[in-house]
Amino acid sequence: MSKDLTRFFKENYKNINLYFDEYMDNCLYSKFGFFNTEVVRSSKEGDFLTSPEVSEYFGLIIANFINQQIKEGDILEVGAGTGSLAEEIDKYVNKNLYLLENSSTALEILNNKKFETDKRPEKFSNKNIDIIYMNELLDNVPCSIGVNVDNKWYEKIINTKKEKFEYDLVEIRKENHEWIEKYNFKPIQGVELEIQLNSEKLLNNFINIFNPNYFLIFDYGYEYKDRDKKPYSSLIRTYKEHHLSSEPLEFPGETDITYDVNFTFLEKYFESKGYKVELLLQSNFLDKYGFENIYKKLKDNYQKFSDIEKLKIKSQLVGLEAIHNKRGLGGFYTLIAEKI
Ligand SMILES: C[S@@+](CC[C@H](N)C(=O)[O-])C[C@H]1O[C@@H](n2cnc3c(N)ncnc32)[C@H](O)[C@@H]1O
Repeated sequence: MSKDLTRFFKENYKNINLYFDEYMDNCLYSKFGFFNTEVVRSSKEGDFLTSPEVSEYFGLIIANFINQQIKEGDILEVGAGTGSLAEEIDKYVNKNLYLLENSSTALEILNNKKFETDKRPEKFSNKNIDIIYMNELLDNVPCSIGVNVDNKWYEKIINTKKEKFEYDLVEIRKENHEWIEKYNFKPIQGVELEIQLNSEKLLNNFINIFNPNYFLIFDYGYEYKDRDKKPYSSLIRTYKEHHLSSEPLEFPGETDITYDVNFTFLEKYFESKGYKVELLLQSNFLDKYGFENIYKKLKDNYQKFSDIEKLKIKSQLVGLEAIHNKRGLGGFYTLIAEKI
């Protein structure tokens, strides 16, 4: 895996720049990439656990939101992983739910489920999609890395000529520089900027194809005004088997490469596209759409039922607490964009 990708990079990027977003793209989504081998990564057997894998009630609460907001039209999930979230939401909403997924490993599983699933958004262009939601998708969309030196922006590339890959700085590509200017991200001393131009292109494509009234986005991230409070120069990191892993250049294709999503960019992006944006913590979103009721009901049942049932309810309570806890998954951001 790692060897194939290392060879691929060495052979194909001898004389041209290997920008970080191309590196990340190949590491995650190419034939030898992290998301296309062995198990579905967002599962117990995989490398990280997401809110829908931790608690089935995440889906119920999203369904409450959908039932309150969406009068007609259908639903599209992007980056559906194992399909657990779609299955839960589908129990409570009376709408068609379509799934987009890139990973061939995940697609094999999803194709055995009841949903129409595809890699290409165009496949669903004839559907009346009113809401697009995604959980932990944007942190996996390849980003570029901007570095500011003496008030001039550069970009990181990967030097593949040496035995071990290492970073170099080159002139920033024009469209990346324009992205920084457009969103007005001023340089912060000692801090690199993850340039999310590919996320912008992905969202543009969804708006062009579906023009949905709502986007609902969950992810880990930050607001740019708080960036200097984070004690890291880079927000890019890797995961493997449920633990923080190596430096991103060390084992290409063997780790999940991810980064904190810049929610200030997303807020400005959706506003520029004519959406009203609400940004809140996941725990607050859960509170707003039914957490308390579900939690109370589970607690009441816990008192009433026998030992075996109690065990099951206990584990449901633990899951629900985990997606709500602000020091864990509850501290993620939720962005609701509603067309004005
Ligand atoms: C971190 S996993 C999250 C999976 C699931 N949403 C969950 O919460 O468990 C990200 C998923 O998004 C998929 N993905 C990434 N980019 C995508 C894209 N452009 N279109 C569809 N799926 C994508 C990956 O293959 C992976 O399965």
